Amino acid sequence: MKVNGKHYRTIWADETNNGIIHIIDQRFLPHEFKVVQLQTSGQMCIAIKEMHVRGAGLLGAAAGYGMYLGALEANESTFDHDIHAIATQINSTRPTAVNINWAVKRQLSTIKKGKTKKEKVDIALQTAIAIADEDAMHCRQIGLHGLKLITEIANAKPNSTVNILTHCNAGWLAFVDHGTALSPIYVAHEQGIDLHVWVDETRPRNQGSNLTAWELGAQNIKHTIITDNAGGHLMQHGLVDLVLVGSDRTTLTGDVANKTGTYLKALAAKDNNIPFYAALPSSSIDWELHDGYKQIPIEERDAEEVKYVQGYMNGTFQRILISPENSPARNPSFDVTPARLVTGLITERGICEASSKGLLELFPEKNPQHG
Ligand code: MRU
Repeated sequence: MKVNGKHYRTIWADETNNGIIHIIDQRFLPHEFKVVQLQTSGQMCIAIKEMHVRGAGLLGAAAGYGMYLGALEANESTFDHDIHAIATQINSTRPTAVNINWAVKRQLSTIKKGKTKKEKVDIALQTAIAIADEDAMHCRQIGLHGLKLITEIANAKPNSTVNILTHCNAGWLAFVDHGTALSPIYVAHEQGIDLHVWVDETRPRNQGSNLTAWELGAQNIKHTIITDNAGGHLMQHGLVDLVLVGSDRTTLTGDVANKTGTYLKALAAKDNNIPFYAALPSSSIDWELHDGYKQIPIEERDAEEVKYVQGYMNGTFQRILISPENSPARNPSFDVTPARLVTGLITERGICEASSKGLLELFPEKNPQHG
């Protein structure tokens, strides 16, 4: 997407020096737009863990490029051992988004086709680029499929605004480009549909008020930031037509893990008869899992994120304590919305019901019975 008139992706390899990977460091947004360079797999692990990069699809792309940097670092004579050790480190950075694990597995299975270190490094770079390109392409397709939902709502209420509520940031910053939940919104806006987005602030790290609001503002899309608890009230008053969220891991059975608080939005949407859709590329589907609540690992982040807020004042970032210093806090960062509360899933191949039947109809090659 464009920033100040220039097209950016969230991650890319340097055009002249392939040993350098560029990322947009998201910790500084919306106040500063900073592109930084990473040159080692260790730096990539820190960037993932400390959320310089974040969001399911971007984490997959970052893991792909991290494996490429790892291949550059590995010794020719101990290559397999070294690259597996790096894979373990990358896999241990963040547990919930399955994209990390998916990208690492894809890298390991393609890298092993190379015979020399040079061949393996070349394969790792091509695979990292392919992961990133596919992510961007799948997100655009999600936008085109999701447009149908927004168009139907717009047609059903002519001459009025379509109100969409979203949680966290599932926009282009969370992927390589375009995003998932925001992608249909971008396409609908391009088509001239009158839209307004309710943006949950998304405590504790405020990906909604920091990132989603910044993204929508940059595209001139009407939006309003709300507290995380305001959605239910707005739904009761007929001010939400559609809830659109992303996903960090979706089970074969259609259970959706997403940023903590998503489950409460789905409950409120169900109670108010409002469609609730999750948008996700197939790289976020964990085809092995049948029960999201029991099987999806939920990241517990540092309790300090709950007790302190970070803001920008007089040109610098400030961290402020907002609770009694000695009170304990907990920070489960994701929750699981069971399939029964999900109206449908928007994928790169189309929209389906949140169930194994729905997903396998779109992705028949994932069916164990597939010939
Ligand atoms: O902790 P984050 O910011 O990496 O959380 C992931 C997310 O961005 C959200 O859960 C999002 O809605 C999922 S889709 C990228």
